[in-house]
Amino acid sequence: MRLLIIGAPGSGKGTQADAIAQHYGVPAISTGNMFRAAVASGSPLGEQVKAIMESGALVPDEVTDAVVADRLGQPDAAGGWLLDGYPRNLAQVATLDAYLGAQGQALDAVVLLDVPADLLIDRLLKRAQIEGRADDTEATIRHRMDVYQDSTAPLIQAFQARDLLVRVGGVGEVDEVRERIAAALTARLGR
Ligand code: AP5
Repeated sequence: MRLLIIGAPGSGKGTQADAIAQHYGVPAISTGNMFRAAVASGSPLGEQVKAIMESGALVPDEVTDAVVADRLGQPDAAGGWLLDGYPRNLAQVATLDAYLGAQGQALDAVVLLDVPADLLIDRLLKRAQIEGRADDTEATIRHRMDVYQDSTAPLIQAFQARDLLVRVGGVGEVDEVRERIAAALTARLGR
């Protein structure tokens, strides 16, 4: 099973990813988490991406694509995966398509979490108080929203045109949203 979960910052991708991945017996792979781990460890990759992430901009495609290709090549990802936070622009979609094509593989579905913008900002400001994530300041959140609109939102139409999109309302209790995603994916994929 090869799945994507997409949605604006704060839409709940990370919150929902593990349960979906567990259901299908595949790893949940988050580029944001991989980059944050690199920053925390002070690795050369972390040094390279720290300021970019703090600004709310996207890490350059060649860096991100290489990190993802390396992760997808690991043994636990051989039977499938759920990608959270990648691809994030049309160029990354093309890179992922080429990667999958070379392996004779294809995407099964793309979950889109739909949440209104004002709620997203509330959620991220609340998280800022709890976790203190460097990119959860109000100005950076707004920039991340702009980047999402400019670079990532066009993926919605692209995946819809390929009949891969599974749109799920992301407002409500976490458990409620999880059940909604599970029902929508089961209806789409038959399992
Ligand atoms: P990334 O970590 O992917 O950040 P993001 O897309 O901005 O997403 P968030 O983690 O903020 O939100 P989420 O949708 O996962 O929601 P969450 O579940 O956390 O990327 C960070 C940065 O890394 C990027 O800005 C970029 O610099 C770089 N990067 C990553 N991927 C890249 C790529 N492909 N290319 C280039 N650069 C890349 O939930 C948010 C909050 O809401 C939490 O506090 C949660 O508890 C709460 N919440 C969740 N669900 C609910 C609910 N149903 N009700 C109430 N609260 C809820």
